[in-house]
Amino acid sequence: MQKIFVLTESDFISPSFDLLNASTGSFTWKTPSNIALVKYWGKQEPQIPENTSISFTLDACFTLTTLEFSKKENTSSNFDFEIYFEGEKKDDFKPKIQKFFERIEQYVPFLNEYKFVIKSRNSFPHSSGIASSASGMSALALCVMSLEKELNPTISEEYFNKKASFLARLGSGSACRSIEGELIVWGNHPAIEGSSNLYGVKFPAKVHENFKNYHDTILLVDEGEKQVSSTVGHQLMYNHPFAKQRFQQANDHIEKINEVLKNGDLKQFISIVESEALSLHAMMMTSNPYFILMKPNTLKIINKIWEFRASTKSNICFTLDAGANVHVLFPEKEKEIVNNFIIKELIQFCQENHYICDRIGIGAKLISNM
Ligand code: DP6
Repeated sequence: MQKIFVLTESDFISPSFDLLNASTGSFTWKTPSNIALVKYWGKQEPQIPENTSISFTLDACFTLTTLEFSKKENTSSNFDFEIYFEGEKKDDFKPKIQKFFERIEQYVPFLNEYKFVIKSRNSFPHSSGIASSASGMSALALCVMSLEKELNPTISEEYFNKKASFLARLGSGSACRSIEGELIVWGNHPAIEGSSNLYGVKFPAKVHENFKNYHDTILLVDEGEKQVSSTVGHQLMYNHPFAKQRFQQANDHIEKINEVLKNGDLKQFISIVESEALSLHAMMMTSNPYFILMKPNTLKIINKIWEFRASTKSNICFTLDAGANVHVLFPEKEKEIVNNFIIKELIQFCQENHYICDRIGIGAKLISNM
C-alpha cells in the first residue's frame, strides 16, 4: 500500500530559485467551488480549523483565473498587482489579495520579484450568494504554484497539490478543499489517514457507488450580499457558549460519515448532512451578537423536501452554507424524480426562479500555460 506522507509547515517554505527560468508568461486555472457536508465554522490563527470538515468538490460552479507575470526591473518590497474581475478593473478587491500575498510570502518568497495582472471570472453570478472565496482563492493559489513549478520543475504533483491547498487555506479556509475532487477532508482527524490542519486531502478510502455522480442543485433563494460575512461568523465562535460541543459534534460526524461514505448508507448520510446544516445555522442564531441568514423561503424549501422524502422514500436531502440558498443533494439514480419535484415544487421559492444544477466534480484544471 502507498504510504501517505503528512507535511509540516516548514516543508512549504521554498528555497531560492533561479528567476531566469521565468521572466514573463501567464497561467490560467479553472477551479471549482465546494459544498461542505461537515462544516468548518470556527478557527484559530493562522487559519487553523477548530474541527475537521469534509466537502464535495463541485463542477459547474467554478472560477477561471489568469495570472500574468513579468519580472520586475527593480526589486521593491511592495507587491505589484492589478485585478480585473469579469473584464472590469477592481481596485476594491485589492486589500483581500494584498493580505493573501502577505500571508503566503514566507512560503513563496519570489512573489515580490514579479509584477502581476490577475484576471478572474466566475461561472455563477457574482451576486448569487454562492461563496466565491473558495474557488477564487484556490485558483489564485494554483496560479502561484504554477509559477513556483516553472522556477522549480522538480516538484512532484503531490507536493504541488498539497502546497496549493496550503496556500489557498491562507486566503480562505474552505478554499483549501477546492484543489482536488471528489471528496476532500481538511483538518486533522484520527479516523482519516493523512489528514492535516494545514491542507485538504482526498478522502482516502474507496467511496461507495451510491455517491458517484451525486447531484447538488443550488436553489438561489436570496441573491443579495450576506449581512454577516463568514469571517465575522468564524470570529463569533470565540467565547461562543456552545463552541466546545459544536467542535466535538463535527468531529463525531466525521467519524460517522467516514463509515457512511464507504458503506453507502444513504439514510445515515442524510441525517449527518442535514444535522450539520442546521447546527451551523444554530451557531449563528446563538452567537453574540446573534444573526439569522436563512430566509422564510429557505424554511419552506426544507419543509417541502421533508414532505417529499416522507411520501416517496427518496434520498433527497439539503445542506446550507453561510447564506439563505439551499443545496439540494440527491443520488444519480433519483435524478429524474427529484428534478421533476424541484421544478414543480421548489423553484417557486427561488429569487426570479434562479437555480444551478451542479454535481460532484474532480477538481481544478490547468487551462493554459504560456
Ligand atoms: C459555512 O472558508 O468562507 O461555508 O476562512 O474566513 O475565508 P474564511 O471562511 P470560509 O468559511 C466557510 C464556512 C462554510 C462552511 C464550510 O465551507 O465548511
